[in-house]
Formats: sequence, C-alpha cells, structure tokens
Amino acid sequence: MLEISYDAVSPGLLAAFPEGMRHEQVVVARDPSCGYQAVVALHSTVLGPAVGGTRLWRYPAFADAVSDALRLSYGMTLKCAVAGLPMGGGKSVILSDAPGFRRREALRAHGRVVQALGGRYLTAEDVGTTPADMAEIRRETPYVGGLESGAGDPSPYTALGVLRAMQAAAERLWGTDGLAGRTVALQGCGSVGAHLARLLRRAGAEVVVADLDAERARGVAEEVGARVVPAEEILSVEADVLAPCALGGVLSAETIPALRVRVVAGAANDQLGRPEDAAALLERGILYVPDFVANAGGVISGSRDLCGWTEARADAAIDGIGETTRTLLAAADAEGASPYGVALRMAKERLARGG
Ligand code: NAI
Repeated sequence: MLEISYDAVSPGLLAAFPEGMRHEQVVVARDPSCGYQAVVALHSTVLGPAVGGTRLWRYPAFADAVSDALRLSYGMTLKCAVAGLPMGGGKSVILSDAPGFRRREALRAHGRVVQALGGRYLTAEDVGTTPADMAEIRRETPYVGGLESGAGDPSPYTALGVLRAMQAAAERLWGTDGLAGRTVALQGCGSVGAHLARLLRRAGAEVVVADLDAERARGVAEEVGARVVPAEEILSVEADVLAPCALGGVLSAETIPALRVRVVAGAANDQLGRPEDAAALLERGILYVPDFVANAGGVISGSRDLCGWTEARADAAIDGIGETTRTLLAAADAEGASPYGVALRMAKERLARGG
C-alpha cells in the first residue's frame, strides 16, 4: 500500500538549507509491501518542470537521505539554470537497504509517486540506477527519461561535458585546451568515470584511477592504459587535474590542503563539503570548475526525452559547456572571485529572469 506524504519534512531542516533557497516541495513516500522508502525533493520549477535522477543508495539514517535529496535537487536547479535548459531542479533518493526491499516493485512504486506529481517532476538515472530501472518506472508514468529507446544512458554525455569543461580550464591555465601529456587523477570508475577515462586517453592524457571497488578500477585501467592507486590516495596524487567522479563532499577542509593539482573538474554532484570550500580552493590557486557546470551533459542529453530537443541541439549544448566554462573562468579571473561564486550568480540571475 503506497503512502505519499507531501511536505513531510520539518521546516527546520529546510530553513537551514544553504543560501536560504527554499525547496518548493519535499515528498516522503513508502510502500512497506516492497520495502520502498523514498524522498523526492522539488527545489524549483521556476524555469520548467523539476528534473533530477533517481538515486538508489544506502544511508546511515533516513535524515541523511533527506539531506542528500535536498542538496542534490538544489544542485539540479543551478545546473539547469547555467546550462540554459527549460527545466528546474529535483531529485529522488530511494533507500536501497530498507527492510524487505524488492527492487522491481520498489521502482514501480516510485513510478507511481512520480506520476502523482503530475509532470512537475521528471526523473532519469542516477547513482545506483540504470536504463532498465527507468523502464520499470516508465510502466507507471511517462515522466521519465534515460530509457534505452530514447536518449539512453546519460553517462557518456556527462563524461563528454566534463572533458569540455576540463579543456576550457586547461586553456585558461596553460593557454591551450590540449590535454596531451597532462595527468588526470580520476576518482570513481563507474559509468561516467569509465567513459571519461576513455576520452582522456584518446586526448593523449595520462590517467591515474581509483575506485572503492578495486576490481572496477583495475578493469578500467587495463582497458585504457591507466595507473591504479588505492582509493584513499587519489585525492593527494600529484597531477594536473583532479576529476571527482564518485560521490559528493570530496572537497573539504580536510582534503583541500592535501590536493596536488591545478584544476578540479569532474562529474560528481555536490563536490564541495560547504560553499566556503570554494574560497579555500581559490586561495590555493586551484581552478575549480563547479560541478553543476561541468556535469550538465547528462541532463542536457536527457532533454531529448524530457523536453523534445533534437539530438543535434543537445550535442551543441553539451559542447557549449566548454564555452560556458570559458566565460565563467574569465569572469572569475577578472573579479578575483571563485568560479563557484560566479556560477552561482549566473544561475540566480537566470532564475530571477524566469527564463
Ligand atoms: P556510478 O555509481 O556508476 O559510479 C560511481 C563509482 O564511484 C563507483 O564505481 C563507486 O565504487 C565509486 N566510488 C564511490 N565512492 C568512492 C570513493 N570514495 N573513492 C573512489 N571511488 C568511489 O555513478 P556515475 O553514474 O558514474 O556517477 C558518478 C558521479 O557523477 C555521481 O556523483 C553522480 O551523481 C554524478 N553524475 C552522474 C551523471 C550521469 O550521467 N551518470 C550526471 C551528472 C552527475
């Protein structure tokens, strides 16, 4: 029996949210018959329906799942705004270790929740979910993208967008967007990380990889010709670029002092532990391309399914991540500000214009 409670999250938690940017709606849903427990956060529908993947993950506590959904949906709003998409920010989190969890049935239940939101929220893959999972959701609702029959897996597009962001940062720093001979430390060899490793090797870069799943790191390294380091060492590897492609919160007061790179550009959502960490990166002379700028390729590719863009339009917009990054880094340099702060302003300006 599916229970959906709207605005079930305490106002205190929402009010404490960074920047005072309030979420429009937070939905908590459960179906004990299949162990389904989820949070769907709609941060903003100012620019269009809130779009954001469905994450299937284990959390220490339910409050951590809520917090993840809140932060990630906020990031989606910023991402869509900077990428010029006619969409807002949302995110779903399903707890993969809920008692009695049965994947297929839980995804169907999730589809019914998405359907109940009536098109205000559009979903696709995220960490822990696949195009096959989206097909399950599709049995209950049309408000889902990333299907094999449509734009498919967004990861290759996300990886391409990250590459474009990295090239723009290289151009800013070294006067050429060529990555040949540069070394990139890549954290996370999952869907995006593996594609990015291939693109980087094709561009002539040296790649150092790590993954909590050592087998996965070894597989990617063997395929592309990369060096593997233990997961706990990747953030302090000496390299030109760090590409975080695992989970969020990797750039923090603990990790930033140990970084030995000039650029950070990667796919992971929500890379900064706190917004203030952007200033710490700036102080250390590390060029940080904000995650919500660099990793927009996936949501742009999804816009083929979700708002009827042609493939050519989506491809041009993914390449456009390079131009956006160039504009952003030039403005940040001119102002002596962090690219994160400037990107945040760009997003807020578009939200204020409403389109
Ligand atoms: P994935 O689940 O396929 O891969 C993540 C990988 O990171 C896994 O292999 C995991 O073992 C590894 N990992 C986790 N913690 C780690 C750590 N501390 N050190 C080293 N490795 C670690 O996920 P996917 O799809 O590749 O996404 C990666 C990141 O990019 C996520 O943060 C996701 O939210 C973000 N992202 C993904 C998009 C996509 O198109 N798939 C789009 C935009 C953002």
